[in-house]
Amino acid sequence: MTETIQPHGGKLINRELEQEERRAKLEEVDELYKLTVSDWTVSDLELIGIGGFSPLEGFMKKEDYESVIHDLRLKDGTVWSVPITLPVTEKEAEGISVGDEVMLKGEDGIIYGSIIVEETYTYDSKIEAEKVYGTTDEAHPGVKKVYDKGNVYLGGPITLLNRPDHGKFDEFYMDPAETRQMFKDLGWNSVVGFQTRNPVHRAHEYIQKTALEAVDGLLLNPLVGETKSDDIPADVRMESYQVILTNYYPSERVRLVIYPAAMRYAGPREAILHTIVRKNYGCTHFIVGRDHAGVGDYYGTYDAQDLIEQYEAELEMTIFKFEHAFYCNVCENMASAKTCPHGKEHHVHLSGTKVRELLRNGQRPPKEFSRPEVADVLIKGMKQNQG
Ligand code: ADX
Repeated sequence: MTETIQPHGGKLINRELEQEERRAKLEEVDELYKLTVSDWTVSDLELIGIGGFSPLEGFMKKEDYESVIHDLRLKDGTVWSVPITLPVTEKEAEGISVGDEVMLKGEDGIIYGSIIVEETYTYDSKIEAEKVYGTTDEAHPGVKKVYDKGNVYLGGPITLLNRPDHGKFDEFYMDPAETRQMFKDLGWNSVVGFQTRNPVHRAHEYIQKTALEAVDGLLLNPLVGETKSDDIPADVRMESYQVILTNYYPSERVRLVIYPAAMRYAGPREAILHTIVRKNYGCTHFIVGRDHAGVGDYYGTYDAQDLIEQYEAELEMTIFKFEHAFYCNVCENMASAKTCPHGKEHHVHLSGTKVRELLRNGQRPPKEFSRPEVADVLIKGMKQNQG
């Protein structure tokens, strides 16, 4: 018998209106205030609506927000690490009163959902940056986002009226109810979730497969929402995942499903959010390697592992914590400091800058770093994006 793991907070949230209810709500559109929101907010709305962010039922109100910022918990005590908020400018807020239902329209003009505004509140962006990202430096891409958005938050429950179109990723889209059912059908009692925002390299493959030795299945769950401009575009990454799965993974033990969220680069705090979401998708295990969700030098290599350890029992997830993995020329194997006795001079290390330079010149990085099939996808992707 397959036992499914409980969603975070005990209940899988579904805030999506369907059929008659949805039609009726969309008919009210003309009478309601319409607020244009960013792609980032649309992705948060979707994740709340489909239950990826369970137990959230809407954008955070002040008490939850403050509690998350300062104590990593919702006000009822449930572990939560990153605020999920709906920012508006002061000017936009002037047209909105508590009690209003506001339609949320994407930049593409599509009405994605609505919020019943139970609260409007201001916040201190410096405190949010310091608490969530551990820095107030504007050069941090997550902090920059905090500083750039409006300084009023709307809090209250949402409904989801239209799921965003994920275009060519549609065939890899599943909501948490669907992945849970899929794991049941596959007979997977234990599933390890893998978050990634980068093309797959040998270290990723090594930690995924090491984890797979201990569980029934792997949910390869790449983030395809907004990322910073110098990250590899999601379509190229998706192609790299498909090519490596076809060539090097047992198809009956892996599923590729997109995670339609925006990347926050909040390091340790985002590792907790990533774990919670994968729990909602039905995973029992989650991988946190070196500098998870990190950027630049803002976080220590194992800060995310140290923080998550404090919440692991409460999250009821098993975290596979991996040390920095590399290829060792003496071992002739992937390894880490835990398994390899040889000096750094024997390890294959390539900086992101070096890899990009090779790919731009149409050259494959060494096969100890990247599978040749993956390198070819990246070279092609680089060429297309250049011109
Ligand atoms: S992340 O921002 O999504 O964390 P990335 O896609 O690079 O970035 O990493 C995905 C996962 O693999 C994270 O858990 C990260 O810690 C882990 N990871 C990436 N590279 C290595 C490595 N060389 N050794 C160990 N873990 C790694």
